[in-house]
Amino acid sequence: MWVCTIYSNEKVTERVLEQQQSLLSFFCSFVLLVHITRADLSYSVPEEMRPGSIVGNIAKDLGLEVGKLFTRKARIDTEENNQHYCDVDLKTGNFVIRERIDREELCGEKVSCMLKFELVLESPLELHRVSLLIQDVNDNSPVFPKDAMKLEIRESAVKGARYRVNEAHDADIGQNTVKHYSLQKNEHFVLSVQDDADGSKTVELVLDKELDREKEHDLNFMLIAVDGGNPQRSGTAVIHVTVLDANDNAPVFDQAVYKSSLPENSPVDTVIVTVSATDADEGVNGEVTYEFSRISERAKKVFSLDGKTGEIKVTGALDFESNSKYEMRIDAKDGYGLSSDSKVMIDITDVNDNPPVIHLKSLTNPIPENVSPGTEVGIINVQDRDSETNGQVRCSIQQGVPFKLVPSIKNYYSLVSTGQLDREVVSDYNITIGATDEGSPPLSSSKSVQLSVADINDNPPVFEEQSYSAYVSENNKPGSTLCSVSARDPDWRQNGTVIYSLLSGEVNGALVSSYVSVNGDTGVIHAVKSFDYEQFRSFKVQVMARDNGSPPLSSNVTVSVFISDVNDNSPQILYPAPEGNSFMTELVPKAAHGGSLVSKVIAVDADSGQNAWLSYHIVKSTDPGLFSIGVHSGEIRTQRDISESDSMKQNLIVSVKDNGQPSLSATCSMYLLISDNLAEVPELKDISYDEKNSKLTSYLIIALVSVSTFFLTFIIIILGMRFCRRRKPRLLFDGAVAIPSAYLPPNYADVDGTGTLRSTYNYDAYLTTGSRTSDFKFVTSYNDNTLPADQTLRKSPSDFLEAFGDSDDSSQV
Ligand SMILES: *[C@@H]1O[C@H](CO)[C@@H](O)[C@H](O)[C@H]1NC(C)=O
Ligand SMILES: *[C@@H]1O[C@H](CO)[C@@H](O)[C@H](O)[C@H]1NC(C)=O
Ligand SMILES: *[C@@H]1O[C@H](CO)[C@@H](O)[C@H](O)[C@H]1NC(C)=O
Repeated sequence: MWVCTIYSNEKVTERVLEQQQSLLSFFCSFVLLVHITRADLSYSVPEEMRPGSIVGNIAKDLGLEVGKLFTRKARIDTEENNQHYCDVDLKTGNFVIRERIDREELCGEKVSCMLKFELVLESPLELHRVSLLIQDVNDNSPVFPKDAMKLEIRESAVKGARYRVNEAHDADIGQNTVKHYSLQKNEHFVLSVQDDADGSKTVELVLDKELDREKEHDLNFMLIAVDGGNPQRSGTAVIHVTVLDANDNAPVFDQAVYKSSLPENSPVDTVIVTVSATDADEGVNGEVTYEFSRISERAKKVFSLDGKTGEIKVTGALDFESNSKYEMRIDAKDGYGLSSDSKVMIDITDVNDNPPVIHLKSLTNPIPENVSPGTEVGIINVQDRDSETNGQVRCSIQQGVPFKLVPSIKNYYSLVSTGQLDREVVSDYNITIGATDEGSPPLSSSKSVQLSVADINDNPPVFEEQSYSAYVSENNKPGSTLCSVSARDPDWRQNGTVIYSLLSGEVNGALVSSYVSVNGDTGVIHAVKSFDYEQFRSFKVQVMARDNGSPPLSSNVTVSVFISDVNDNSPQILYPAPEGNSFMTELVPKAAHGGSLVSKVIAVDADSGQNAWLSYHIVKSTDPGLFSIGVHSGEIRTQRDISESDSMKQNLIVSVKDNGQPSLSATCSMYLLISDNLAEVPELKDISYDEKNSKLTSYLIIALVSVSTFFLTFIIIILGMRFCRRRKPRLLFDGAVAIPSAYLPPNYADVDGTGTLRSTYNYDAYLTTGSRTSDFKFVTSYNDNTLPADQTLRKSPSDFLEAFGDSDDSSQV
């Protein structure tokens, strides 16, 4: 991995090891190429290409379909700065130049000028390194530092003496830099060019024929520098030679090369090095002044040279990361203008002055909450511009978030989920990533990454209760509210919007929806119609809560509706029949003792509970002390023995009340006849019945009486005619008296409404009148609440009669 370290600190290597740099870099890229991914791309283009020029086709070179570039959001990121020289055309997959690239501006004297890009693809995240080698174009001519160079040479100079002149500089590199120098033909000088170890050239004029001041005072000729480019470019300078008298000396530097190094954070005015040249001449001629003879523009900004003292000082901010090495030439001149030069090399050393910088290269935001652990959600890149350990960075992620950093290639990390996410618990993450370098002292930085979790419809609505009960009194208004159900769904927006509905089903054979309805938004359940407790007492409906997700989730709940009784039914008197519709007479034996059961009032109430709890009271009677009624049984008993003085006809009005609030009641009249014999029954009209009977009954009676009268008259006449001489009268109709059928136990339903009497019980009744007290035995269950109301209502008159006759054992006292 050492190779990679060098690679990552490429700038240093480039500057410090200029010669080896390209080799190492190449070696390193090769190793990385193999090590990281086979899909790294490298292209090479000449500088100064027009924007829009195509460098290559990335899609083809990566083996990707062109369409994938768009769907996978391919984009180009630059590794270090924000310059966007190139971009990828998502339509064609071409890698195109966006901005003019000037190699000289970008890389200066660097031998290899490489632009590095990263191609980021999403889903799955993928990163390809794209390197673009910028080739030099011969777009710069050699330039001499000065258009005219002055040389002052003593006439005593001997043949072979060498005079250094400034070399020309060509901003291009390689072949395109200065290749040849040539000197305009002249009598005295020839040119000597030697390559120096540091890659520069030493250009010298060599004296070929001695000078003679008396003949020539000044000499002028051209020096031409030509580069190796195609086409060639050249630059010229005029050399102006002044021939001096003998015995002048040029200054001499005490070192051919001055070397110094200083840390990048050195303050302004720091003295780096002091150059010194001495001149053997005396006086003004020996005063040496210094000046930069060749210096780069960059160096000019950060260094100054004191012309008198030769001190080189820092005047600007030194930055190892942008320039780690400076080289300049210095001329020392004496009063005559004789000069010599020396070289100054300054190395800048790295200081840990750059904190790591964290770049978020890609982020899938928001991420669905159902991603499986281990899903890559982002790519982080960390840069530290410092070199060596100062630039080595460790990354960390805050504790307590379900994400981790997984080192990927070089300075890249994947942000990977480590656990199941749940938007309903944590919907947003603020992930802090820290980076610390290994410098001394270390520098660190942090970045927070906002990540939202997108909703998935993973929660069904949940009802707040396991089941719901609604209580409603019968006879409710249609549309009244029964209860409301409520379900919660913690999902987001429509995934958590709950809609209520009624599940179809049946209640008593009818659709649920004909009984209740539910408000889809609020969950309020309404009655659709009025309920009747006497019809049914409770029913159940299923309500579904469904969210609006796709697909939707739902849950069901049971709502039980309990109908409570209202005292809406008054007691119904089964026996005796309601007043006015019948003539009922009970026979009470004259010998009845106190406490004897005489009759019984039978009533039912369709309500239940208290509302059907009946009590019986005598509200009016002919002889208040004679009869009493059982408050709860309805049994009418004699309170004392019957005496001769008691009126034969006794009339009781009985009220039956239920226990509801308010209570409802019904009354009936009971006619009691104290007699041992039906024959003693007085004429009907004598009994103070209310005569407002139905017309039919009246007609019947009138008809009966008329027929009887007519028949009797007829018989009497016949008998009178036949047996008048015998004079022996006979009792007629012994033991059988015509009692109107209406005396019978009432027809609870509608028979007495029409007045139609059925012959069957008409005659049965007649025949059982012999001892009525013992014949009337009542079934206690008539008064029993457990008897279903509707059944009671359906009982036919014949059923009653059967019941009376079949229950000898039950209630006879
Ligand atoms: C995220 O965390 C960072 C560091 O703790 C904090 O500065 C920033 O305000 C937080 N942002 C949000 C949106 O909470
Ligand atoms: C609801 O959930 C589905 C997946 O179940 C998801 O695609 C959709 O984006 C979610 N809607 C919202 C508003 O979050
Ligand atoms: C609710 O009931 C409906 C109809 O019976 C059924 O289709 C659905 O699966 C039930 N939902 C749940 C969560 O039990």
